[in-house]
Amino acid sequence: MTSDFRFNHNAVPFHGFCCYRFETLGSTQDLLKEWVSQGLAKPGTVVLAEGQTSGRGRPGHIWESLQGKGLWMSVYFQPCIPVEWAFGWNMRLALAVCKVLDALVPSVPWQIKWPNDWVTYQGRKVGGMLVENQLKGSCITDSLVGIGINVDEDAVNSSLPYATSLRGEWKRSTLAEQEPNDFRKEGLLQALLAEFEFMMNPGGDSSKGFNFAVNNPITGGWNIEKIIGDVESRLYGLGQRLPFQCGDRTEYWITLGLDQGGGLRVRSESGELQQTLIHPHYRLAYTLNLS
Ligand code: BTN
Repeated sequence: MTSDFRFNHNAVPFHGFCCYRFETLGSTQDLLKEWVSQGLAKPGTVVLAEGQTSGRGRPGHIWESLQGKGLWMSVYFQPCIPVEWAFGWNMRLALAVCKVLDALVPSVPWQIKWPNDWVTYQGRKVGGMLVENQLKGSCITDSLVGIGINVDEDAVNSSLPYATSLRGEWKRSTLAEQEPNDFRKEGLLQALLAEFEFMMNPGGDSSKGFNFAVNNPITGGWNIEKIIGDVESRLYGLGQRLPFQCGDRTEYWITLGLDQGGGLRVRSESGELQQTLIHPHYRLAYTLNLS
């Protein structure tokens, strides 16, 4: 289905990005996907909506996106990286967002909940990420990164005990009456895009666009051990006994860390058993293999 939204509706450049804002959309991810498939979007295209009527979480989940209550956005990257780096790519994105959360609400030790959520130390989720990659041969050519962050307290459905918002966490964790100015959605957006730009072009030259090749410092210096170490240093539940759903059964495992393929390394309480859990949602959500 072709959307009613004209591609050049409300385009606003920001550094190397071009932001398209909408009052309400079904899903920013779906619109961006449509533009990419039609060859309309270039890397750095950002689709934002004040509200979404059919926001998507990871497969099988809806993402509640109340009007004006959070940051609902999708960003188009062309990472051009080998498919084996999919997990590293995911983690780099997750770390970049964490850095921004750290800066906005420094009183909260923000953590990454495997595989793609941002949570407080207690596991309250402030946002999540949906990464949908497209392949050409064994290369990830296109990556559509959907990010949802609850900003206002009433973004969060009160029946979800483990959901939270930036503003809620700010209030909970600080005595300051005044919120920082850049706490608004606009500040959050600009901080995120600046961080992504730095991630893609550490040298700071956005004129090179968002393609990067293996001889670029970011991928040439791709160090999966370092990325994993950085994520593990803020991995939710590390060393703790956590419940995992396995079909209709709950199993308890102690989290040991991540493996290079994106699995979660765990052990039984006695230590007798060790295994790597593969998240059913941690996969390339859709692939377009052009060769
Ligand atoms: C998750 O936690 O399951 C991922 C949530 C991703 C939600 C964002 S909101 C913007 C973008 N558009 C969507 O439909 N989903 C993502």
